[in-house]
Amino acid sequence: MSALAFGGSWTERKLSVVREYLKLYATALKKQPSPEKPFTRIYIDAFAGTGDRKVKRLESQPLLDLPDLDAMAKSSTRLALDVEPAFHRYIFIERVTKRAGELDALKSQYLNRNIDVVNKDANDAIKELCRTTNWRVTRGVVFLDPYGLQVSWDTLIAISQTRAIDVWILFPSGMGLNRLLTKDGNIPQEWQDTLDRALGKTEWRSVFYRNEEVPDLFEGSRRTTVKDAGADKFESFYLNQLRSIFPTVMDPSVHLTNSKEQTMYLLCFASANPSRKVKELAPKLARWAAKV
Ligand SMILES: C[S@@+](CC[C@H](N)C(=O)[O-])C[C@H]1O[C@@H](n2cnc3c(N)ncnc32)[C@H](O)[C@@H]1O
Repeated sequence: MSALAFGGSWTERKLSVVREYLKLYATALKKQPSPEKPFTRIYIDAFAGTGDRKVKRLESQPLLDLPDLDAMAKSSTRLALDVEPAFHRYIFIERVTKRAGELDALKSQYLNRNIDVVNKDANDAIKELCRTTNWRVTRGVVFLDPYGLQVSWDTLIAISQTRAIDVWILFPSGMGLNRLLTKDGNIPQEWQDTLDRALGKTEWRSVFYRNEEVPDLFEGSRRTTVKDAGADKFESFYLNQLRSIFPTVMDPSVHLTNSKEQTMYLLCFASANPSRKVKELAPKLARWAAKV
Protein backbone atom coordinates (compact mmCIF):
# COMPACT_ATOMS: atom_id res chain seq x y z
CA MET A 1 0.00 0.00 0.00
CA SER A 2 1.46 3.39 -0.91
CA ALA A 3 1.60 6.34 1.47
CA LEU A 4 1.07 10.05 0.98
CA ALA A 5 3.98 12.30 1.89
CA PHE A 6 3.09 15.81 2.96
CA GLY A 7 3.02 18.25 5.82
CA GLY A 8 5.41 18.75 8.66
CA SER A 9 5.19 18.53 12.41
CA TRP A 10 1.81 20.30 12.17
CA THR A 11 0.49 17.14 10.53
CA GLU A 12 1.20 15.15 13.69
CA ARG A 13 -0.52 17.78 15.81
CA LYS A 14 -3.54 17.94 13.50
CA LEU A 15 -4.05 14.19 13.50
CA SER A 16 -3.54 13.79 17.23
CA VAL A 17 -6.19 16.47 17.97
CA VAL A 18 -8.74 14.86 15.66
CA ARG A 19 -8.03 11.36 16.95
CA GLU A 20 -8.36 12.54 20.55
CA TYR A 21 -11.66 14.24 19.73
CA LEU A 22 -13.03 11.09 18.07
CA LYS A 23 -12.28 9.09 21.22
CA LEU A 24 -13.95 11.62 23.50
CA TYR A 25 -16.90 12.05 21.14
CA ALA A 26 -17.57 8.33 20.66
CA THR A 27 -17.36 7.71 24.41
CA ALA A 28 -19.71 10.60 25.22
CA LEU A 29 -22.21 9.70 22.54
CA LYS A 30 -22.35 6.01 23.35
CA LYS A 31 -24.20 6.98 26.52
CA GLN A 32 -26.73 9.26 24.77
CA PRO A 33 -29.91 7.61 23.51
CA SER A 34 -31.75 9.08 20.53
CA PRO A 35 -35.58 9.13 20.77
CA GLU A 36 -35.82 5.44 19.76
CA LYS A 37 -32.38 3.88 20.40
CA PRO A 38 -28.73 4.96 20.70
CA PHE A 39 -27.68 7.32 17.92
CA THR A 40 -25.93 5.84 14.91
CA ARG A 41 -22.45 7.36 15.00
CA ILE A 42 -20.74 8.06 11.69
CA TYR A 43 -17.30 9.39 10.85
CA ILE A 44 -16.81 11.11 7.50
CA ASP A 45 -13.26 11.70 6.28
CA ALA A 46 -13.78 13.96 3.29
CA PHE A 47 -10.28 14.39 1.88
CA ALA A 48 -9.28 10.95 2.94
CA GLY A 49 -6.02 10.21 1.09
CA THR A 50 -4.94 6.60 1.63
CA GLY A 51 -4.45 4.58 4.78
CA ASP A 52 -0.90 5.66 5.43
CA ARG A 53 1.41 8.61 5.23
CA LYS A 54 5.18 8.94 5.14
CA VAL A 55 6.81 10.32 8.25
CA LYS A 56 10.23 11.88 7.87
CA ARG A 57 12.47 11.18 10.86
CA LEU A 58 15.80 12.85 11.55
CA GLU A 59 18.81 10.57 11.95
CA SER A 60 19.27 12.06 15.40
CA GLN A 61 15.86 10.81 16.52
CA PRO A 62 16.24 7.12 17.34
CA LEU A 63 13.07 5.37 16.26
CA LEU A 64 12.87 3.40 19.49
CA ASP A 65 12.41 6.65 21.41
CA LEU A 66 9.07 7.18 19.68
CA PRO A 67 6.49 5.03 21.41
CA ASP A 68 3.68 6.21 19.12
CA LEU A 69 5.59 5.65 15.91
CA ASP A 70 3.06 3.21 14.49
CA ALA A 71 0.12 5.47 15.08
CA MET A 72 1.88 8.53 13.77
CA ALA A 73 2.56 6.81 10.46
CA LYS A 74 -1.12 6.17 9.98
CA SER A 75 -3.32 8.60 8.15
CA SER A 76 -6.56 10.02 9.49
CA THR A 77 -8.58 7.10 8.11
CA ARG A 78 -6.65 4.41 9.98
CA LEU A 79 -6.48 6.48 13.14
CA ALA A 80 -10.26 6.82 13.06
CA LEU A 81 -10.71 3.09 12.43
CA ASP A 82 -8.59 2.34 15.51
CA VAL A 83 -10.66 4.54 17.84
CA GLU A 84 -12.63 2.76 20.56
CA PRO A 85 -15.56 2.78 21.02
CA ALA A 86 -15.97 2.31 17.28
CA PHE A 87 -18.24 4.38 15.04
CA HIS A 88 -21.11 2.49 13.41
CA ARG A 89 -20.10 3.67 9.95
CA TYR A 90 -16.98 5.16 8.32
CA ILE A 91 -17.33 7.10 5.08
CA PHE A 92 -14.07 7.89 3.29
CA ILE A 93 -14.30 10.34 0.38
CA GLU A 94 -11.38 10.60 -2.04
CA ARG A 95 -11.41 12.06 -5.52
CA VAL A 96 -8.29 10.27 -6.85
CA THR A 97 -9.38 6.81 -7.98
CA LYS A 98 -6.09 5.06 -7.16
CA ARG A 99 -6.21 6.38 -3.60
CA ALA A 100 -9.86 5.41 -3.27
CA GLY A 101 -8.78 1.89 -4.29
CA GLU A 102 -6.27 1.85 -1.45
CA LEU A 103 -8.96 2.96 0.95
CA ASP A 104 -11.10 0.08 -0.29
CA ALA A 105 -8.31 -2.29 0.69
CA LEU A 106 -8.74 -1.18 4.32
CA LYS A 107 -12.00 -3.14 4.39
CA SER A 108 -10.11 -6.44 4.44
CA GLN A 109 -7.86 -5.22 7.24
CA TYR A 110 -10.69 -3.89 9.40
CA LEU A 111 -13.28 -6.64 9.07
CA ASN A 112 -15.18 -5.48 12.14
CA ARG A 113 -15.65 -1.95 10.79
CA ASN A 114 -18.39 -0.78 8.42
CA ILE A 115 -16.49 1.21 5.75
CA ASP A 116 -17.85 2.96 2.65
CA VAL A 117 -15.44 4.52 0.15
CA VAL A 118 -16.82 7.26 -2.07
CA ASN A 119 -14.67 8.06 -5.12
CA LYS A 120 -16.08 11.55 -5.78
CA ASP A 121 -15.49 15.22 -5.17
CA ALA A 122 -15.75 15.83 -1.42
CA ASN A 123 -18.00 18.89 -1.71
CA ASP A 124 -20.55 17.02 -3.86
CA ALA A 125 -20.41 13.86 -1.75
CA ILE A 126 -20.88 15.67 1.56
CA LYS A 127 -23.82 17.70 0.32
CA GLU A 128 -25.45 14.48 -0.86
CA LEU A 129 -24.81 12.74 2.47
CA CYS A 130 -26.21 15.70 4.38
CA ARG A 131 -29.35 15.59 2.24
CA THR A 132 -29.97 11.83 2.36
CA THR A 133 -29.09 10.85 5.95
CA ASN A 134 -31.73 10.65 8.67
CA TRP A 135 -30.18 13.06 11.15
CA ARG A 136 -32.90 12.47 13.72
CA VAL A 137 -31.20 9.18 14.63
CA THR A 138 -27.66 9.85 13.40
CA ARG A 139 -24.80 11.91 14.77
CA GLY A 140 -21.49 12.41 13.05
CA VAL A 141 -18.04 13.90 12.92
CA VAL A 142 -16.68 15.23 9.64
CA PHE A 143 -12.97 15.83 9.10
CA LEU A 144 -12.17 18.21 6.22
CA ASP A 145 -8.47 17.90 5.51
CA PRO A 146 -7.72 19.42 2.09
CA TYR A 147 -4.34 20.54 0.75
CA GLY A 148 -5.65 24.04 0.03
CA LEU A 149 -8.86 26.04 -0.19
CA GLN A 150 -10.96 23.18 -1.61
CA VAL A 151 -13.73 23.25 1.00
CA SER A 152 -16.65 25.23 -0.44
CA TRP A 153 -18.64 27.48 1.79
CA ASP A 154 -21.89 25.86 0.62
CA THR A 155 -20.56 22.50 1.88
CA LEU A 156 -20.20 24.03 5.34
CA ILE A 157 -23.73 25.41 5.08
CA ALA A 158 -25.02 21.92 4.22
CA ILE A 159 -23.18 20.51 7.26
CA SER A 160 -24.58 23.20 9.55
CA GLN A 161 -28.13 22.52 8.33
CA THR A 162 -28.00 18.90 9.54
CA ARG A 163 -27.96 20.22 13.15
CA ALA A 164 -26.22 16.92 13.94
CA ILE A 165 -22.60 17.09 12.79
CA ASP A 166 -19.40 18.20 14.49
CA VAL A 167 -16.73 19.27 12.06
CA TRP A 168 -12.97 19.79 12.11
CA ILE A 169 -11.79 21.94 9.22
CA LEU A 170 -8.20 22.46 8.19
CA PHE A 171 -8.12 26.06 7.00
CA PRO A 172 -4.95 27.02 5.10
CA SER A 173 -4.67 30.59 6.38
CA GLY A 174 -0.95 30.96 5.66
CA MET A 175 -0.36 28.45 2.88
CA GLY A 176 -3.53 29.08 0.92
CA LEU A 177 -5.27 32.31 1.79
CA ASN A 178 -2.34 34.65 2.35
CA ARG A 179 -0.71 33.54 -0.89
CA LEU A 180 -3.78 34.41 -2.97
CA LEU A 181 -4.20 37.87 -1.44
CA THR A 182 -1.71 39.80 -3.54
CA LYS A 183 0.00 42.88 -2.09
CA ASP A 184 -1.61 45.39 -4.45
CA GLY A 185 -5.08 43.80 -4.48
CA ASN A 186 -4.79 42.90 -8.14
CA ILE A 187 -5.98 39.33 -7.85
CA PRO A 188 -6.41 37.13 -10.93
CA GLN A 189 -10.07 36.29 -11.53
CA GLU A 190 -9.49 32.56 -10.97
CA TRP A 191 -8.06 33.26 -7.50
CA GLN A 192 -10.96 35.59 -6.68
CA ASP A 193 -13.37 32.80 -7.59
CA THR A 194 -11.49 30.38 -5.31
CA LEU A 195 -11.66 32.90 -2.46
CA ASP A 196 -15.37 33.57 -3.02
CA ARG A 197 -16.07 29.85 -3.03
CA ALA A 198 -14.04 29.14 0.13
CA LEU A 199 -14.90 32.19 2.22
CA GLY A 200 -18.60 32.33 1.55
CA LYS A 201 -19.02 35.93 0.63
CA THR A 202 -17.19 38.67 -1.15
CA GLU A 203 -16.71 40.88 1.92
CA TRP A 204 -13.15 39.57 2.25
CA ARG A 205 -12.11 42.31 -0.18
CA SER A 206 -13.03 45.11 2.21
CA VAL A 207 -11.71 43.20 5.23
CA PHE A 208 -8.28 42.34 3.84
CA TYR A 209 -7.67 45.53 1.82
CA ARG A 210 -7.99 49.23 2.53
CA ASN A 211 -7.70 52.29 0.34
CA GLU A 212 -5.02 54.79 1.27
CA GLU A 213 -4.05 58.26 0.07
CA VAL A 214 -0.36 58.32 -0.83
CA PRO A 215 1.57 61.45 -1.86
CA ASP A 216 2.58 61.61 -5.52
CA LEU A 217 5.56 63.34 -7.15
CA PHE A 218 3.60 66.59 -7.79
CA GLU A 219 2.61 67.41 -4.19
CA GLY A 220 -0.79 65.88 -4.74
CA SER A 221 -1.94 62.48 -3.69
CA ARG A 222 -3.48 59.39 -5.20
CA ARG A 223 -5.57 56.58 -3.81
CA THR A 224 -4.02 53.17 -3.69
CA THR A 225 -5.11 49.75 -2.43
CA VAL A 226 -3.08 48.30 0.43
CA LYS A 227 -3.22 44.77 1.82
CA ASP A 228 -4.24 44.86 5.45
CA ALA A 229 -4.16 41.25 6.53
CA GLY A 230 -2.24 38.95 8.85
CA ALA A 231 -2.57 35.78 10.88
CA ASP A 232 -4.89 37.27 13.56
CA LYS A 233 -7.20 38.80 11.01
CA PHE A 234 -7.41 35.58 9.01
CA GLU A 235 -8.44 33.71 12.15
CA SER A 236 -11.01 36.23 13.37
CA PHE A 237 -12.52 36.52 9.88
CA TYR A 238 -12.89 32.77 9.36
CA LEU A 239 -14.17 32.06 12.87
CA ASN A 240 -16.74 34.86 12.50
CA GLN A 241 -17.82 33.35 9.21
CA LEU A 242 -18.24 29.95 10.89
CA ARG A 243 -20.17 31.57 13.76
CA SER A 244 -22.62 32.98 11.22
CA ILE A 245 -23.79 29.43 10.38
CA PHE A 246 -22.81 27.17 13.32
CA PRO A 247 -24.20 27.45 16.88
CA THR A 248 -20.80 26.49 18.34
CA VAL A 249 -17.32 27.44 17.16
CA MET A 250 -14.13 26.85 19.16
CA ASP A 251 -12.21 30.10 19.63
CA PRO A 252 -9.24 30.22 19.34
CA SER A 253 -8.67 27.50 16.78
CA VAL A 254 -5.63 25.24 16.88
CA HIS A 255 -2.67 27.00 15.26
CA LEU A 256 -0.53 24.67 13.22
CA THR A 257 2.86 26.31 12.93
CA ASN A 258 6.09 25.65 11.06
CA SER A 259 9.55 25.53 12.65
CA LYS A 260 9.65 29.37 12.57
CA GLU A 261 6.43 29.50 14.62
CA GLN A 262 4.51 30.91 11.66
CA THR A 263 0.89 29.75 11.43
CA MET A 264 0.47 27.69 8.28
CA TYR A 265 -2.96 26.26 8.99
CA LEU A 266 -5.79 26.77 11.44
CA LEU A 267 -7.55 23.64 12.65
CA CYS A 268 -11.07 24.89 13.34
CA PHE A 269 -13.86 23.16 15.22
CA ALA A 270 -17.59 23.81 14.85
CA SER A 271 -20.69 21.94 15.93
CA ALA A 272 -23.99 22.11 14.07
CA ASN A 273 -26.03 20.76 16.97
CA PRO A 274 -27.99 23.63 18.58
CA SER A 275 -29.10 21.71 21.71
CA ARG A 276 -28.07 23.37 24.96
CA LYS A 277 -26.34 20.23 26.21
CA VAL A 278 -24.21 19.84 23.08
CA LYS A 279 -23.40 23.56 22.99
CA GLU A 280 -21.90 23.11 26.45
CA LEU A 281 -20.20 19.78 25.90
CA ALA A 282 -18.83 19.92 22.34
CA PRO A 283 -16.44 22.87 22.78
CA LYS A 284 -15.23 21.36 26.07
CA LEU A 285 -14.36 18.11 24.32
CA ALA A 286 -12.75 19.99 21.43
CA ARG A 287 -10.59 22.05 23.78
CA TRP A 288 -9.69 18.93 25.69
CA ALA A 289 -8.63 17.19 22.50
CA ALA A 290 -6.63 20.24 21.45
CA LYS A 291 -5.25 20.75 24.96
CA VAL A 292 -5.84 24.52 24.65
C1 LIG B 1 -4.03 16.38 2.74
S1 LIG B 1 -4.48 14.93 1.88
C2 LIG B 1 -5.39 14.00 3.06
C3 LIG B 1 -4.65 13.51 4.16
C4 LIG B 1 -5.33 12.51 5.06
N1 LIG B 1 -6.36 13.15 5.88
C5 LIG B 1 -4.27 11.86 5.91
O1 LIG B 1 -4.30 11.95 7.13
O2 LIG B 1 -3.37 11.24 5.30
C6 LIG B 1 -5.79 15.50 0.86
C7 LIG B 1 -6.45 14.42 0.00
O3 LIG B 1 -7.62 14.99 -0.57
C8 LIG B 1 -7.75 14.54 -1.90
N2 LIG B 1 -8.58 15.55 -2.58
C9 LIG B 1 -8.20 16.76 -3.08
N3 LIG B 1 -9.26 17.44 -3.55
C10 LIG B 1 -10.35 16.65 -3.33
C11 LIG B 1 -11.73 16.81 -3.58
N4 LIG B 1 -12.22 17.92 -4.15
N5 LIG B 1 -12.57 15.83 -3.22
C12 LIG B 1 -12.09 14.69 -2.63
N6 LIG B 1 -10.78 14.48 -2.38
C13 LIG B 1 -9.92 15.45 -2.72
C14 LIG B 1 -6.35 14.42 -2.41
O4 LIG B 1 -6.30 13.48 -3.47
C15 LIG B 1 -5.61 13.92 -1.16
O5 LIG B 1 -5.56 12.52 -1.14
